[in-house]
Parts: sequence; structure tokens; C-alpha cells
Amino acid sequence: MAKEKILVIGASGQIGVELTLALRKIYGNQNVIASDLREQNPLLEGTGPYVSLDVMNKEMLHVQVIRQNITQVYLLAAILSATGEKNPNLAWHLNMQGLLNVLDIAREEKLNKIYWPSSIAVFGPTSPKQNCPQQTIIEPTTVYGISKYAGEFWCNYYHQRYGVDVRSLRYPGLISYKSAPGGGTTDYAVEIFHEALEHHAYQCFLEEDTYLPMMYMPDAIRATIELMEAPKENIGIRTSYNIGAMSFSPKEIATAIQQHIPDFRMLYKPDSRQSIANSWPQSIDDSVAQQHWQWKPEYDLEAMVTDMLKNLKAKPNI
Ligand code: NAD
Ligand code: SER
Repeated sequence: MAKEKILVIGASGQIGVELTLALRKIYGNQNVIASDLREQNPLLEGTGPYVSLDVMNKEMLHVQVIRQNITQVYLLAAILSATGEKNPNLAWHLNMQGLLNVLDIAREEKLNKIYWPSSIAVFGPTSPKQNCPQQTIIEPTTVYGISKYAGEFWCNYYHQRYGVDVRSLRYPGLISYKSAPGGGTTDYAVEIFHEALEHHAYQCFLEEDTYLPMMYMPDAIRATIELMEAPKENIGIRTSYNIGAMSFSPKEIATAIQQHIPDFRMLYKPDSRQSIANSWPQSIDDSVAQQHWQWKPEYDLEAMVTDMLKNLKAKPNI
């Protein structure tokens, strides 16, 4: 494998921690620089270099890329759907300008590869609800979705016009036990596990029959690495790939948890996040990713629930 030096921006977040650890296993600890606005996550401490970095400060970002001889950037810093609705200007600004800063530096420094995630949030109420295809009507109604859709076209533009090898996935809601989620509409599917173990009860902010596309973090990390390692000629989509794994409602995940914790109770008190969830598809057609780079998920609802509970029970603070 050619020598790569990777910068992960947003490394202290829900995906960043696990992706950084996975990249360090492949490329070597010293070759993966973690960076974030936040102090570094305790799970990353002692595993490799960390720098404090604001992706909005293009000059400092450029200096880091040159100083560290960076060849690849994974840009994870963003404001997610629910937090974005509280401060639309900030969400637009960070999600767009952060991406443009990285794409510009990638072009100027001729970086080998860039990874930037999009989301199922690009889809809106006019997109098909079931098996939402790669190419369809896309009219997002959240600022987060608008920023992701615009970002997809910036990626495509930098690829077409400047040859930047930027790759992207439209992640579904991600479920993980290592690092907490950061302000999304799908966060209930993580919170539910902590509450089930600690209090045997959870008050859900979505209605019981709200189906959404979801994925367990090990599948998301593997998808990201498989996409990034796929031969260039296989990457036919330069906006962002649909990827899917499972689709369930709050009621269904509660039932799956009850198989392990029989007295677990669910209460429902929908809030403003319900309308965001209602605007998204319930399931995703990822056949294009399957064809182009052989994407295949491993975890379904039961396997994910069993693994989440096993790992959370083993955590010292639970
Ligand atoms: P997160 O909120 O958990 O982490 C984002 C990280 O970025 C945080 O640690 C934050 O401190 C950092 N950050 C924020 N502003 C920054 C700045 N100006 N400079 C540097 N760092 C900054 O988010 P996540 O869930 O890990 O998501 C990562 C990416 O994946 C985002 O683009 C998100 O839209 C996308 N995504 C996530 C999900 C999901 O379910 N988690 C689903 C779809 C897409
Ligand atoms: N999990 C994310 C959110 O709910 C989807 O991009 O915002």
C-alpha cells in the first residue's frame, strides 16, 4: 500500500472516534492525525497524534495539511439535523464552508483522496418512502438536508472540474456504543439502549411507528473504508452513494430490546424531531453501491441489538 498520511476532521464525534481507530489499524497510528474543535475523546488518547483544529479556519487547516504531509482527508465535522434546525445559519455555514475549505485545499495540494459523508437527510417528503433509489426526486426540507445535497454537488463539481478524488456515502442513522451521537433525529436509537440498561424505561421523541433507515457502526466504518479503498474506476457516483442495512420503528427496536430486558417499557412523547423524521424515507435502495463496490451490510436489527447490549453491559460506567 502506498504511504498515506490521513487527517480526520471531527475525530471526537460519534463516527470520528471509531473511524480514526479503524484507520490507525490499517495505516499505522502515527499516519492518522485526529483533529477536532473539542478536546480529544478519551477513547483516542494514547492511540496516535491529535491536533486542535477548526475546519472553518482555512489558513490553519492548510498549514496543517502541508506541515503534516497529509495525503487524504476525512471530513466529519458538521451540524446534524436536529441541532441544525435550532440554528440554520450556523449549520449551513459550517456544513458548506467546511467542505469548500477542504475541497479547495485538496485541489491546491493535489491530495490523493477526500472522504465526506452525506446523509439520508438529502431526501424529502416528495422522495419515495420505500426503497428510496439512488436517483429520484430530492427536495430536502431541513437545513441539514439542504446543506448535504448542495455538498454532494460541490463534491461532484470538484471531481469533474479539478479531478479531486472525493468520495461520499449517504449514511442512514448510525447506532454505536463507543461514542455518543451529536444532535440528530435518529439519536433515539442510541439513547434507548442506555435508558433500557439504566432505568428499564425510555421516553421516545418519535412516534412508535416511525420507520427510518438505520445502520450499526461497524457496518458504517467498513462501508467507508471499502468505498475509499475501491479502485477509482469503480466509483461511478461522485455525488454520494445510498447505503442501507436495516429499517425499523421505535416500537420494533423496543420489542427487540425486550427479548433481552423483558420489563423494558417505552413511552412516546414526539417533539419537533418527528416532522424531520416524517420527511425522510423509511428504507433505502442501495443496489448501485452493491454493484459498484460490492457493498453488503452484516448487521440486522436482532444482531445489532444483541451486540449493543453486550458491549454496553461491559462498559464500566453502565
Ligand atoms: P458528531 O456531531 O458526533 O461529530 C462531529 C464532530 O465535529 C464533533 O466532535 C465536533 O466537535 C466536530 N466539529 C464541529 N465543528 C467543528 C469545526 N468547526 N472544526 C472541527 N471540528 C468540528 O457527528 P457524527 O455523527 O460523527 O457525524 C459525522 C459526519 O457524518 C457528519 O457529516 C454527519 O452529517 C454525517 N452523518 C452522520 C450520521 C449519524 O447518524 N451519526 C448519519 C448521516 C450522516
Ligand atoms: N443521523 C443523522 C441525523 O439524524 C442523519 O444524517 O441527523
